[in-house]
Amino acid sequence: MEKNTRLILALDVTDRDEAIQISEKVAGYVDAIKIGYPLALATGMEIIGQLSKYAPIIADFKVADIPNTNRLICEQVFKAGADGVIVQGFTGHDSLEAAVKLAKEQKKDIFVVTEMSHPGALDFMQQAGEGIAKMAADVKASGVVAPATRPERVTEIRKIIGNELSIISPGVGAQGGSASDVIKAGADWVIVGRSIYQSDEPDMAAKKIVDEIKEVI
Ligand code: C5P
Repeated sequence: MEKNTRLILALDVTDRDEAIQISEKVAGYVDAIKIGYPLALATGMEIIGQLSKYAPIIADFKVADIPNTNRLICEQVFKAGADGVIVQGFTGHDSLEAAVKLAKEQKKDIFVVTEMSHPGALDFMQQAGEGIAKMAADVKASGVVAPATRPERVTEIRKIIGNELSIISPGVGAQGGSASDVIKAGADWVIVGRSIYQSDEPDMAAKKIVDEIKEVI
């Protein structure tokens, strides 16, 4: 994924035409489009190939299974045209290694969730976040997902993973995080969904975030 605008669109709409229209509009402002279960379940996996002409696709399926199943899932997602897959880290090193090994063979990316951006992530996930970040670095994943809602955690996680891995960070806008704050805290990319796709002018909403990021890099 090329680092230009440092913005990733989280395209959690459930209508194919709307997904395509929004992608067309924002293509010039995003480095990747993240799709997840809402869009893939509503429209089918072909949507990955259809959107990949606008930007590289990161499939946020938060894969969390035994090593063999992780590999089988990632194989299908890459075959559908995705450039990256988001996997959970809490399943442990062997599950993660299976996904990373396959991704490396296919020159694709695996991003590992350290902790999530919503309040409930504090119940169980945050305690494991640092260990998961270290494991992601040990197995040489492409990057980690860390919460824009808690920039201080992004800084902590950056210290653990060093500069070899990327940090992609959701939680900007609708969940309360600020794009400039989390970039300053050490994120490489911000992931933004509702603030862009629910806007009347998604391209202008994306541009505004890109301009905000430019001011702090
Ligand atoms: O609409 P909003 O900007 O809040 O979208 C954030 C996106 O990032 C959603 O697709 C959500 O599932 C995802 N995400 C997150 N926190 C994580 C991992 C992914 O909010 N740790």
